[in-house]
Amino acid sequence: MPQSAIRTLLAAILLAATAAHSQTPTNTTLLVDVDHRTSTSLDGDWHAIVDPYSTGLYTFHQEIRKDGFFMNAPFDPHGEPHDYNFATAPTLKVPGDWNTQRPDLLYYEGVVWYQKDFDFTPKPDTRTFLHIGAANYRSFVWVNTKKVCEHEGGFTPFDCDITSVVTPGKNFVVISVDDTRLADGVPTLQTDWWNYGGLTRDVSLVTVPTQFIDDYDLHLSRTDHSLIEGYVHVEGAPAGLSVAVSIPELQAYVIAKTDEQSRAIISLPVKSISLWSPENPKLYTVHISHSLTMQGGATGDSVRPRRTAHYDLIQTQIGFRTIEARGTQILLNGKPVFLRGVSVHAEAPYRTGRAYSEKDVDTLLGWAKELGCNYIRLAHYPHDERMTRAADRLGIMVWSEIPDYWALQFDNPAVLAKSKQQLSEMIRRDRNKASIVLWSVANETPNNEARTKYLTTLADLTRQLDPTRLVTAALLVRTEKNPDGTGTTKIVDDPLGKALDVIGTNEYVGWYEQKLAGIDHTTWDIHYQKPLIMSEWGGDARFGNHAPAGTTDPAIWTEEYQAELYKHQIAMLRRIPQLSGTSPWILMDFRSPRRLNTGIQDNFNRKGLVSDQGQKKQAFSILQKAYQDKVFDKPE
Ligand code: GCU
Repeated sequence: MPQSAIRTLLAAILLAATAAHSQTPTNTTLLVDVDHRTSTSLDGDWHAIVDPYSTGLYTFHQEIRKDGFFMNAPFDPHGEPHDYNFATAPTLKVPGDWNTQRPDLLYYEGVVWYQKDFDFTPKPDTRTFLHIGAANYRSFVWVNTKKVCEHEGGFTPFDCDITSVVTPGKNFVVISVDDTRLADGVPTLQTDWWNYGGLTRDVSLVTVPTQFIDDYDLHLSRTDHSLIEGYVHVEGAPAGLSVAVSIPELQAYVIAKTDEQSRAIISLPVKSISLWSPENPKLYTVHISHSLTMQGGATGDSVRPRRTAHYDLIQTQIGFRTIEARGTQILLNGKPVFLRGVSVHAEAPYRTGRAYSEKDVDTLLGWAKELGCNYIRLAHYPHDERMTRAADRLGIMVWSEIPDYWALQFDNPAVLAKSKQQLSEMIRRDRNKASIVLWSVANETPNNEARTKYLTTLADLTRQLDPTRLVTAALLVRTEKNPDGTGTTKIVDDPLGKALDVIGTNEYVGWYEQKLAGIDHTTWDIHYQKPLIMSEWGGDARFGNHAPAGTTDPAIWTEEYQAELYKHQIAMLRRIPQLSGTSPWILMDFRSPRRLNTGIQDNFNRKGLVSDQGQKKQAFSILQKAYQDKVFDKPE
C-alpha cells in the first residue's frame, strides 16, 4: 500500500477513533455462566508495553488523550512518529499478573498496555462480548481502535459489547490496565497482600443470541424444600417471551413468561430432591432457555427442549440447599452446622502470583480438604470462578468477600458506588453456587459512624440482591483488662453487628497481643445473640525455622511457637458457646509488601499453615486433628 494511502488510512482511523472516544462508552454488561457457554479463548501471549508515565492516556501537558493509545500504526519509518510499536514489544501471558512474570515488574505499579490480534466470523442475529475474568485494577478496552468499555475493580468480571466494532477476519484488541493504588479505591492504599496487576484471569470472546439470558437466580425455598424459586432475566426480551427451566434428573420443568422488565418469575415444584451439603455435594444439571417449549408427556417423561427460533440455552450445575441463622446457630438445610474452615488468599502455590488455574484451585482446596475443612473464607476479594465451582463439587461452604478492606474513604459517595458495583458483580457471578453461604461486606474497618453507615448500606443491598444467604463482615474486637488482673476480655460490640446476620471477628491473641499464656486468660463478651465466626487468628512461622529440641518456651517465628499458638487458641475457641465457625489465618504463606523482615518474611506473610512452596508446618497437623476430632461440634 503506497505511503500516501497508509497516511490516509491512519488519518481516517484516528479520526474515527477520536469520534468514538468522544462518546462515553456504554459501561459493561455482565454475562453469567461464561464457563458454561461456548467461547473463544484469547488466553495466551499478548504483546505488552510497560507505560509508567501513562503516556498512552495523557499528553505531555497531562491532558487526557481523546484517542487513547492505539497500536493500529504498524511501525512505519515514513509514517507518524509514534513512540510505540506492539509488533516489536515483548509478550506477557494472559491470564496472569505481570509482577511474577518478569523480575523487572515485581514491584511495578502503573499502566501496562496489552494487545492481541484475533480472527472473527460474525454470526447473524447474535451479539459478541469480550469477557474479562478480572483485570487489576482499572482498565480501558479498545477493539479495532474503538473504545468499547472501561472497568474499575480488580477481582470481578466484566463484559464489553463489541458487536458493532468486530469485523469478519482480522481484528485486534488493546487493553490498558493500571494497577496504581488509589486513595478512593476499593481496596484503598494499604493492603496486606501484593498488588498483583494485569489481566489476571481468563479473556475470551462470547457470542450470544440477540435475546440472551444475562442473569438468573434459582434456589431452594427456605420454607418449602420441595420448591425451587427465583427468576430468569432475558436481556432484550419483550414481555411474554416463554422461558423454560428444567431439571431432567428430577423430571421437573416449568415454563414462565417474561414481564415488562424481561424477567420471568420461576416457581418449580420438585419431588425428593437431594439437598447439597459437605457430606453430599449433590449438583443437578439444570437447563435454562427461552423461546422453547418443553416436550414431555403429562407424566413428565423425558424432558427435552424443542428448539424453535433463535434461543439461548444455558446448561449448568446447581446444588440446592438452604442456609439460615437461628439464634446463635447457623443452620444448613435446617440443621445446626459448625464451619470448620481456613482463610485463603488467591496466591498461586509454588509459582506465587495471582491464582487463576484449575491446578491452583485443586492444590489449595486439596490442602483445605486434607485439613478436614467443610468451609473456607475466600479473603479478601472474589476469587477466580473456578474456586467456587470446585467448592460446589467438593462440598466446601464459602465466605465470599468484596475488598472493603481497612480504611476506605467511607465518607465518599463515589467510593460507596464502587463498593456497590463490586458487590453486585460478585453476587451476579456467583449467586447460583450452593457453596457460597456468606457474603461479607468488609474486613477490619475502623469503627466510626461514617463506616457503619456505609457498610450498613452495603449489607442492606446484599439482602436486596440475594435474600437467600447470610450477610457478615470481619470485625475488629476491642480488649479490656479484667479489673481483678486475671487476664483480658474481648468485647464484641461493634455497632456494625446490628446489620449482620453472622458476626465475624478477627483476633490475634498470642501474636500481635500477648504471648501464649495470654490466650488462656482471654474471655469473650459478645453483645449479640447471633452466630459468631472467628474469621481470623494465627501467627507467623517460617517453614523450617525450629526452636531447639525440648524447648518449653519456643521463640516467635518458629514452627513450634505457631503450633503452640494453635493449641492454645483452639482451647480458647472451644470455650465460646456461641462460636459457629472458624477460619484461622491462613492456609498458605502469601506475598505482602508490608512484611519486611529479611530472612524470615522476605515480603511474605508467614501465617500460612503451608509455605508458598507447599511445605506443611507443624501447626497444620494441630488444626487437622482438631477438625478430624470435631472438637468444635457441640452436642445437640
Ligand atoms: C488482618 C487482616 C489480614 C492480614 C492479617 C495479618 O487481620 O485481615 O489481611 O493479613 O491480619 O496481620 O497477618
